[in-house]
Amino acid sequence: MNSVKPVKKAVFPVAGLGTRFLPATKSVPKEMLTVLDKPVIQYAVDEAKKAGIEHFVFVTGRNKGVIEDHFDLAYELQDTLQKREKKEALAVLEHYQPAAGQTSFTRQQAPLGLGHAVWCARDIVGNEPFALLLPDMVMKDEKGCLSGMMDLYSQTGGNIIATEEVAWEETHKYGVIEKGSPAGDGFEITGMVEKPAPGTAPSNLFINGRYILQPEIFDILEDQKPGAGNEIQLTDAMLTLANQQSFYGHVFTGQTFDCGSKAGFIEANIAFALDDAEIAEQIREMLNTM
Ligand code: G1P
Repeated sequence: MNSVKPVKKAVFPVAGLGTRFLPATKSVPKEMLTVLDKPVIQYAVDEAKKAGIEHFVFVTGRNKGVIEDHFDLAYELQDTLQKREKKEALAVLEHYQPAAGQTSFTRQQAPLGLGHAVWCARDIVGNEPFALLLPDMVMKDEKGCLSGMMDLYSQTGGNIIATEEVAWEETHKYGVIEKGSPAGDGFEITGMVEKPAPGTAPSNLFINGRYILQPEIFDILEDQKPGAGNEIQLTDAMLTLANQQSFYGHVFTGQTFDCGSKAGFIEANIAFALDDAEIAEQIREMLNTM
């Protein structure tokens, strides 16, 4: 299958209110909280860039303007750093700077669910396959979860969902897939369910927040009725699309931190700090004496 359409755009739903992190998130979007020295959103963007993504689409909401500023050129800051010959700081800014025209922003006007957030990106994505990354899920992996999915996509085409094993008691918190026959480096997905009631999950492979989807998902989302939690669920729309197109699962084997929860956020900070040559030793000693 060499004729698959390349995936060049990625969608990042960043409209969530972040109520679990109040009061921090009263004026700072949860996606801008820092894990070590980068905002949470930057990890997903870096992962997408590594996988060959060229256009970054952010579905934002009210009070999220600072995310747009983060990906803009900070002219005054650059100018000051240049005058002061702060070469290292300048290099950091340049490294993370998207080129002009590489980013798009649209707003989800009401919190109607993940499926609705994705649907808000339809005009910007247009008629081509796209990657979807939920930025709360911060991944730590040399290759990058999306890069692994791209490998599978080049073998199978269709739609790809990244999955990971989770304890059976935890399955009710996530979307869960049903595993079919092997396909390429992954497997066929034969079913999926959003937040299955305890004891009813078809497997313990949960949907970890990384997708490659075909644009037909937008037509389905347009008429999608609310599902679990009375929200328009992406998983329900994918289930409908699975009647027309193939879905394949990729098993991600790196580390994932759910930065939408306090414990996951702290764990991510510790994991990335222990990986930073400059401070790792100090942090290790600190942890040992706690
Ligand atoms: C969403 C998806 C779910 C997925 C999860 C990963 O749920 O609907 O399928 O497992 O993200 O974080 P949410 O976390 O928005 O409830």
